[in-house]
Amino acid sequence: MKITILGTGGVGRSFAEKLTSLDHQVMMGTRNVQDTLHKNTTDSYGNPPFSEWHKANESVPIEPFAKAVQFGKIIINALQGAKVLPVFESCNSDDLNGKIIIDISNPLDFSKGFPPSLIDGLNNTNSLGEELQKLLPGSKVVKTLNTMYNGIMINPNMINNGNHTNYICGNDTNAKETVVSILKDFGWKKENILDLGDITNARGTESTLLIWTRIYGATNNGAFNMNIVK
Ligand SMILES: NC(=O)c1ccc[n+]([C@@H]2O[C@H](COP(=O)([O-])OP(=O)(O)OC[C@H]3O[C@@H](n4cnc5c(N)ncnc54)[C@H](OP(=O)(O)O)[C@@H]3O)[C@@H](O)[C@H]2O)c1
Repeated sequence: MKITILGTGGVGRSFAEKLTSLDHQVMMGTRNVQDTLHKNTTDSYGNPPFSEWHKANESVPIEPFAKAVQFGKIIINALQGAKVLPVFESCNSDDLNGKIIIDISNPLDFSKGFPPSLIDGLNNTNSLGEELQKLLPGSKVVKTLNTMYNGIMINPNMINNGNHTNYICGNDTNAKETVVSILKDFGWKKENILDLGDITNARGTESTLLIWTRIYGATNNGAFNMNIVK
């Protein structure tokens, strides 16, 4: 399947590698192709420069955001939270109509340092997932995988034999089923994918970042996830 990934950070790269290995056709979206291809410094998370990653993944084309969304039947939103709505606003909504948007993003505000807070207006009684769905009513936003480190998203067996919880929410049942089939290809077991219901449930999953970042701060290890036990 043709899949567009918006974002060239750790999440975008993990998805690009995994989806390519599963024989999907992948295109990545970025602000400025030449700037991104010539980046030669590590990013704020310590990831190697994009140019280095791309040398090892040359088959993945990279285009400006608005062009990249024309390519995929499915769009993966791996953008910095504060930039999600402006980037999608800058794209032609006709190019996104009818498409599934897998939303991995979190509305994190690092303006006062670590741990971050959630961006004002995108928490408690609202969420980034909902605002994205409101912005693009013709698209099917499915929020998932945003509650864990990107290495685990695409390789759940990295910890606890794959037994830990991934939430999914969104308004369109068929779209969620399509996303679940991709998650299964990543190694997720059906019993560990918890459907919370419609996109308003993104309020809950995005809010888990308040505790996720504090656990990370206390343990200095991002390779963990939460598990629902009964
Ligand atoms: N990292 C993780 O393990 C993890 C885990 C769970 C959820 N998430 C969420 O997933 C999303 C992606 O995370 P990430 O760590 O891969 O990447 P990130 O560094 O937070 O963001 C990467 C993307 O955001 C774009 N961006 C940054 N500033 C921008 C601006 N001013 N205007 C337009 N676009 C801009 C970048 O565009 P360029 O390509 O042009 O530089 C880049 O493609 C975030 O919302 C994050 O909260 C991340």
